[in-house]
Amino acid sequence: MTSAPKPAPRTSETATGAVPWWRHAVIYQVYPRSWADGNADGVGDLPGITRRLPYLRDLGVDAIWISPFYVSPMADAGYDVADYRQVDPVFGTLEDADALIATAHDLGLRVIVDLVPNHTSDQHEWFQEALVGGPGSPERERYMFREGAGDGSEPPNNWRSVFGGPAWTRVTEADGSPGQWYLHIFDVTQPDLNWERTEVREMFHDVLRFWLDRGVDGFRVDVAHGLVKEAGLPDVDHQPHLLESDSGHVRHPMWDQDGVHEVYRGWREVLDSYNPDGDPDADRILVAEAWVEPLERLADYTRADEMHQAFNFPFLECPWQADDLREVVTRSMEVAHDVGAPTTWVLSNHDVVRHASRLGLPVGRRRPNGIGLEDPQPNAVLGLRRARAATALMLALPGSAYLYQGEELGLPEHTALPDAVRQDPAWFRSEHTERGRDGCRIPMPWEAGATAYGFGDTWDTWLPQPEVYGALAADRQAGVDGSTLELYRALLRLRHDDHLGAGDLEWVEGYGEDTVALRVRGADGRAVVVLTHLGDQPLPLPLPEGAQVLVSTHPLVDDALPTDTTVWLRG
Ligand code: NOJ
Repeated sequence: MTSAPKPAPRTSETATGAVPWWRHAVIYQVYPRSWADGNADGVGDLPGITRRLPYLRDLGVDAIWISPFYVSPMADAGYDVADYRQVDPVFGTLEDADALIATAHDLGLRVIVDLVPNHTSDQHEWFQEALVGGPGSPERERYMFREGAGDGSEPPNNWRSVFGGPAWTRVTEADGSPGQWYLHIFDVTQPDLNWERTEVREMFHDVLRFWLDRGVDGFRVDVAHGLVKEAGLPDVDHQPHLLESDSGHVRHPMWDQDGVHEVYRGWREVLDSYNPDGDPDADRILVAEAWVEPLERLADYTRADEMHQAFNFPFLECPWQADDLREVVTRSMEVAHDVGAPTTWVLSNHDVVRHASRLGLPVGRRRPNGIGLEDPQPNAVLGLRRARAATALMLALPGSAYLYQGEELGLPEHTALPDAVRQDPAWFRSEHTERGRDGCRIPMPWEAGATAYGFGDTWDTWLPQPEVYGALAADRQAGVDGSTLELYRALLRLRHDDHLGAGDLEWVEGYGEDTVALRVRGADGRAVVVLTHLGDQPLPLPLPEGAQVLVSTHPLVDDALPTDTTVWLRG
């Protein structure tokens, strides 16, 4: 094992002193199956990621978060982990992981890995032991086994899995008789762990240390709100939807139980022990994936002795309407401020329809879980235009921002993916009523003229790429004025140079209801005025005296800001 050196500091020194890196970092999500294929098997891998890291340095992000690359039968694309301390052969080896971390650090990029503590794979040795151990055995206690209801042939309660179907599966005991039931909030292959057990807690402390010792800078914590269930596992009268905040409902007994916070306090101690001097550049961080509402409950995960950040899904879910945007930004900042945490912002990830397509759907409709050929199609031009405007708004905001691979190319969702190639368990468990997440997980296009658009040396990629990805390949956009790639590069450069992420926000009056207008004063005092115009008619822009356009997501027309455009002004 090589212990990677810590990354070179990037932005922390400002006029206001040293700010810990994660309070303002831009973190780029790499989905390893779909980033770059180094060995021509049609699936991305760690050497592929390492080779493409300079692209991310040039893009101007501070860190990468890599979705799971551990040993897994891949029933949920790696979110079903069979060995937390080994790299799956499809992605490479532990040495490849070390090389990736070292290269990233040399380039000034931090590395966050994914941790999946709510469930293991059914192929994990613990679950196999639990099956053999039988009812009442200590091995079974590591998971959520229960007797069935009635004569034992009914599930213990009425919970449904997030992916559809019952959340319980009955096992066959060693003697061949129908046996106990185990809980799986997700797929049948993802049994939930029993977080009441000390052994489970200790195992994850060891896993944290294993990766911290290899030099990682933090963990994205999968289903952080799910580990602890309400005592007694009571029946519910509403069922969870796939990866949606629990808005408008009483809390589901499988989510956001108070007992979960103790787990994260323990983890924080482990992470802090790796930075005993409190060096702001050496913090290792935890970020919660928690679909929790209201925002106050989400903020609880980021109290000073718990996680550093939590994904701000209410921002991602916000309708494209000026008053909703103002409200979600204000509330996000308020609740984060109350617990002393930075706000985060995110628009896309591997679980949701890409925002270049999502924002091309009619406003106010429920967010679909995937889009297929027979479904209403998004307006691609409108979607991309709004996506650019939304991103330019997001990247001006104080706090930390998350980008999902390919959004900097303006990649749309693959909405014409044949159902026959779908792999998401949600598609199968929902009995083909939810298309699922494959459409946002398509392999990246790097070079328009190359095999698989430069993803790797075979066209036989694990999910097929749509033709439109060729025209959007990175090499087609690099250096091209007005391209989405150059827009992202410009925004990230300005954000970095002006220390906007560590700055303050104030709302600006006088632009009308349909315009989100704000001023962000960066950490060293320079200000940027940001206008996102959503109105039907162009907004005439007598620019403030001496104001200068720094960047605009769409050209101004006769000094007016067109619909669905964001402009950054110096002034
Ligand atoms: C959230 C992950 O982001 C998603 O991809 C996965 O299916 C579930 N958690 C289950 O691990």
